[in-house]
Amino acid sequence: SDVVRFRGTHQAGITTPVQDRLHFAAFDVITDSRAELTDLLRRWTVAADRMCRGEETVAGGAVGGGPYRPPSDTGEALGLSPLSLTLTIGFGPGLFGATADAPQQQDRFGLGDRRPACLAELPAFPKDAIEPSRSHGDICIQACADDPQVAVHAVRNLARLGVGVVSVRWSQLGFGRTSSTTTAQATPRNMFGFKDGTANVKADQSDLLDRWVWVHHDDNPTAARWMTGGSYLVARRIRMYIEPWDRASLSEQEQVVGRSKGSGAPLGATAEFDTPDFRLTSAGTPLIARTAHIRLAHPDSLGGVRLLRRGYNFTDGSDGFGHLDAGLFFIAYCRDPQAQFVPMQHALAAKDAMMEYITHNGSALFACPPGLAADEWWGQRLF
Ligand code: HEM
Repeated sequence: SDVVRFRGTHQAGITTPVQDRLHFAAFDVITDSRAELTDLLRRWTVAADRMCRGEETVAGGAVGGGPYRPPSDTGEALGLSPLSLTLTIGFGPGLFGATADAPQQQDRFGLGDRRPACLAELPAFPKDAIEPSRSHGDICIQACADDPQVAVHAVRNLARLGVGVVSVRWSQLGFGRTSSTTTAQATPRNMFGFKDGTANVKADQSDLLDRWVWVHHDDNPTAARWMTGGSYLVARRIRMYIEPWDRASLSEQEQVVGRSKGSGAPLGATAEFDTPDFRLTSAGTPLIARTAHIRLAHPDSLGGVRLLRRGYNFTDGSDGFGHLDAGLFFIAYCRDPQAQFVPMQHALAAKDAMMEYITHNGSALFACPPGLAADEWWGQRLF
C-alpha cells in the first residue's frame, strides 16, 4: 500500500524509506496567543492525518462545501493516492524565547523551561554564507511523497489553514533523494554524480537508531522530556558549484569524495559496501586522501559519531549568471545535534576538499517530538 501510518511511537518521515520528493517549509509564528497556536496545531493534526490517508484536508473538501465559500481543500491532489506521504513536524529554538539569532524574541508562549538544552541555534562554521531568508523558523513541516504534487499540496494546505497564526518563512523543494534509509533501496546519486547514502544509518539498525537518532528519557530534565522518543532535525541548504565540478578530472572528483564514482566503492576497494581502508600505503600516501569527505565524516575520525541523513537534491533554476542554482538540501536526524552534527560539520568545514565546490547558504534546527498516540495532536506533550 502507499499509505504510511501517520501515528506511532516515532514520527513518520524519519526512518520511513525515503520517498522521491520533498517539500520542506519553515514557518514563523505570528501570533502571541498560546490558544491560537495550540488551536492551529490541533487543526493541522486533523488535516495531516487525513492527507496521509489520502483524504482531503477537511471534510467537505475541494468541492463539497457549497458554491458560496472558498473550498476547504485546494483540490490539486484530488484523484491522487497518498503516494507514501509523510508529514513530520519540528519546533525551532525561537518558539521557546530568545536565541542567539533572535535575541529580542520574547518567551511568548511560556515555554522557556521546556526548551531542551541542545535546541540552541547552530554555531557559525568556517565558509558559511547563511542567508537569514533561507534559515531558521519557529516550526517546520517536512513533507515527503513519491509525487511532488502530493507533497506541495500538503504544505500548501497547512499554510492556508495557518493564516493569521503562522506565515511561511522559507521553503525548499527537493527531488531525487540523496540517501537511503533501508538496505532494500538502491543508493541514489547526488548532483555531483556520486552515490550518496552508502554509509548512512539504516532503519533496520535499531541499535544505531537508539544510540544516535532517538532522544532518551534521561537526556533531558523533566520539563523537556516531551522530546523523549523524538529527534532533532538539522537542515542545511548546500549550494553545489556544478560547473567547476564538471571541469574537475574524474580522479580529482574521486579523491574529493574518497569513493569511486561508478561503483561507489571506497578507493582501493571493489564493492560499494566494502569497509574503507584509511591506512597509509607502503609509499606513505593514503589510498583515501587526508582531505577526503568520507574520511573526515567517518565515525573513526569523530569519536564514533553518526547521524541519519535524509536529504534531497535541488535545482532552483539558474542563478542569473548562467549557473545552475543546484545543490543538496541536507537533512540529518540526530539525538543531540550539538554533539553530533556540530563537530562533524566543524571537521568538514575546516578540512574537507569538497568545500571548494560547495557553500552552505541555509541553516535551521528543529526539535521533532515523538510520534502521536491515538487522538493526540502535534505538540500536545510540549504545551
Ligand atoms: C558520505 C556527498 C555534505 C556527512 C558522503 C558520500 C557522498 C557525500 C558522495 C559517500 C557515500 C555515503 O556514504 O553516503 C556529500 C555532498 C555534500 C555532503 C555532495 C554537500 C553538498 C555532508 C554534510 C555532512 C555529511 C554537511 C555532515 C555534516 C556525511 C557522512 C557520510 C557522508 C556522515 C558517511 C561517512 C562514512 O561513514 O563513510 N557524502 N555530502 N555530508 N557524508 Fe556527505
